[in-house]
Formats: sequence, C-alpha cells, structure tokens
Amino acid sequence: MKTMKLKHIFYTSLILILFVRVEFVLAQTSENRGEIVFESCKTCHSINRSEANMVGPSLFGVFGRKSGQVEGFRYSPALKKSNITWSLKNLDAYISDPQKMIPGNRMPFDGISSASDRADLLVYMQKVFK
Ligand code: HEC
Repeated sequence: MKTMKLKHIFYTSLILILFVRVEFVLAQTSENRGEIVFESCKTCHSINRSEANMVGPSLFGVFGRKSGQVEGFRYSPALKKSNITWSLKNLDAYISDPQKMIPGNRMPFDGISSASDRADLLVYMQKVFK
C-alpha cells in the first residue's frame, strides 16, 4: 500500500515537472519569435518608456490605451478619430490589415497575414510594454 502511494507521488511529480518544462519552452519560443517579428515594427516604433516618437508613435504601454493619444505625435485624422481601445483583439486586427481596420490611417505597413506570427508578436509586446 505504502509503495503504491510513493509510486503515485513519484509519477505525479514526474509528469508535473515535464509539463512545467514544456510550458516554459513553449512560452520562451513564442516570446523569442515575437521579438523577431517585432523587428519589422522597430524601424518606426520605440518600445521604451523614455524613447520619443519616431516615424510612428511610441508603443510603450499601448495595451488598454485609446488610439491616437500619444503626446506630441501627429496622427492622421483617420487614426485620431478612430476611438479604439488597444485590446489584444483590436491590436491583432490592426496588425493583420491596418487599412481594413482603420481606413485612411497613415501607417505605411501592409500587415502580417500569419495569425501565429501575430500571436507571437503580441506575446512579446505584452512582456516588454508592461
Ligand atoms: C514604416 C513605419 C511603420 C512600421 C513598419 C509600423 N508602423 Fe505602426 N504606425 C506607424 C505610423 C506612421 C502610425 C500612425 C498612423 C496614423 O497616424 O494614421 C502607426 C500607428 C500604429 C499604432 C497606433 C498607435 C496609437 O497610438 O494609436 C499601432 C498600435 C501600431 N502602429 C503598431 C505597429 C506594429 C505592431 C508594427 C509592426 C508589426 C508596426 N506598427 C509597424 C508607422 C509604422
């Protein structure tokens, strides 16, 4: 009876350890892949709180923020009027096809068609913009 219990504990621990490791590897690769995807945004957007606007507005703290609100950045009228809150879902839609979501906005970017690339990118952005 006692050995059964010990065995049970042993196998449960083993499974837990494996599970945690797999989770860790998955999370890490998603974030790392996202960092690579973000390379295509970096030319126009800064990610640090201290950095100023570049060709595009700073994206620091973008999650939960209203669109067109970064101080000192001259937005297009379309983006200024868009009145969107940058949730995960809205960011995903915008990055997928900026012109479709906000017609007339001036982000010179075609969009990322791969849903998994966008998912990785958003995982990365959530990590760095916190
Ligand atoms: C070639 C430059 C350029 C690239 C590349 C680019 N953006 Fe932009 N982005 C802009 C500009 C310019 C605007 C403002 C558009 C406007 O005012 O209509 C903008 C606006 C945005 C906004 C709205 C911000 C706000 O304050 O409302 C988000 C979010 C955004 N970009 C995310 C991204 C992401 C994520 C990527 C990479 C996948 C990316 N952009 C790539 C130039 C760029």
